[in-house]
Amino acid sequence: MKKSYRPKYHASITAGWSNDPNGFIYANGKIHMFFQHYPHEPQWGTMHWGHVVSSDFIRWEDMPVAIAPDMDYEVICGCCSGSNIMKDGKMYLMYTAAQPQLQRQCLAVSDDLVHFEKSSLNPILTADMLHEEVSELDFRDPKLFRKDGFYYMIAGVRILSKENRAQRESYPSRNIEASSKPRDLRSPSALDVSASDPENDGIGNMILARSRDLEAWEYVGKLLYPEDGFEEEYFELNGVYECPDYFILGGREVLLSSPQNLPEISGMYQNIHSSLYMLGRLDFNTGRYHVSHISELDRGFDFYAAQTLEMPDGRRIMTAWKEMWDRNYPTQREGWAGTYILPRELEVRDGKLFQSPVREIEKYRKNRVFVKRLETDRNIRQAEGISGECMELSVTIKPEKAEKAGIRLFRGKRRKTLLYYDRKRKCLVFDRGKSGIRLTGREENANERICPLSGKEEMHLRIFLDVSSVEVFINDGEYVMTGNVYPGEEDTGVDFFSEGGKALFEDIEKYDIIV
Ligand code: FRU
Repeated sequence: MKKSYRPKYHASITAGWSNDPNGFIYANGKIHMFFQHYPHEPQWGTMHWGHVVSSDFIRWEDMPVAIAPDMDYEVICGCCSGSNIMKDGKMYLMYTAAQPQLQRQCLAVSDDLVHFEKSSLNPILTADMLHEEVSELDFRDPKLFRKDGFYYMIAGVRILSKENRAQRESYPSRNIEASSKPRDLRSPSALDVSASDPENDGIGNMILARSRDLEAWEYVGKLLYPEDGFEEEYFELNGVYECPDYFILGGREVLLSSPQNLPEISGMYQNIHSSLYMLGRLDFNTGRYHVSHISELDRGFDFYAAQTLEMPDGRRIMTAWKEMWDRNYPTQREGWAGTYILPRELEVRDGKLFQSPVREIEKYRKNRVFVKRLETDRNIRQAEGISGECMELSVTIKPEKAEKAGIRLFRGKRRKTLLYYDRKRKCLVFDRGKSGIRLTGREENANERICPLSGKEEMHLRIFLDVSSVEVFINDGEYVMTGNVYPGEEDTGVDFFSEGGKALFEDIEKYDIIV
């Protein structure tokens, strides 16, 4: 096994635990990423907001913890996910103060973008201030944005059935009083932030609320209605549409979210928890989102809680947690757990969302190797100069007569990570079953993901490897597959193979990525 699985050009937590990116923003000349963080152990615990800054999305500098759970209203689960916004030169964080039976929205403000002070009005917003249909147990992850003189918030919620609304008064959480007395939270039992009330048969959804000043909020409505273009399965999840984001791109209104326990729909959402995007139209009078296209954001294994920012040059950039809930985390033995994707530029084209790696990565390319053409015929071949654990590798694969044609990455004597076209299934397969340390999850299959290819067999792949990370951009970013693998120290081989017939690999281009 390796000495360390820490990636070299992907953001990762220095020590302890991290999950969702929060408050991803470009402000005062820097890229800021806040994130869910537990500093004391490499596992989920009472949440803090960690903070890193960058000027190019690749090198990140650690900043002091931005907010820690030191108020009564945020025991025991802590300062859970949210977002931020600049107002009058100050940065406002809006986060979910979470208790086991109660989730409320709070504000913290900073004028130096380093030290944050919590508002004396916290909690600013509770479910019962909005509408009786919004569960107070599951109301979290507010995403702030501005439009026409209002601040808007989209948050993940459970919508209560009529019967359960009546029972709200008896929730134990109603007896917990908000107070501003700080408390020592070093040793609480880490409780599941999304623990749901057995009495709550509510259905996951999102809500829209608005405010003139970030402090007084009014309810607009819920976003998703079955009759607005969604298949029924989108309302069969057992959980919340977590970590929403909303923005305009190429004239289209894009909504991102990470639904918990979404069932598989048309071969998508094979993970326990998924991330999706929707293109559609948000009605700011009613909150209804009319969807015209909906699809999975990433077809791989490890991708959750995506958030975006806008750069001064107009680019919309997305980051996400590059892990998955309810699985084992092999880096815990190194005292840390939590990595983030190589940020991606988004574009809406042909009615779909396309993703490509941030162009800033290209300045870290070294040692180019180019191979015009390589042919395999039921065999395995290597290309001179192509191996390593931190690289960008591009290739066009023409499966020709092969039943299977693809690449073995992180290949050693016993271990390998497979990426191949499977003619029978008409898809690209990402197989990490023999990659190294085994990953197990709540799902039956934590080791193979497939991505359908829209009709044509020839495919272009742009692959990024980084010690324990694989990201594959397929056909110009129409699809992306992301996954973590834990190979051995010696497993740095790359080779090309075909089964059942001839295959061609063209324009193979490799760069080492050195930061
Ligand atoms: C998503 C999530 C959020 C919550 C946070 C807690 O991964 O469950 O809904 O705010 O993590 O860390």
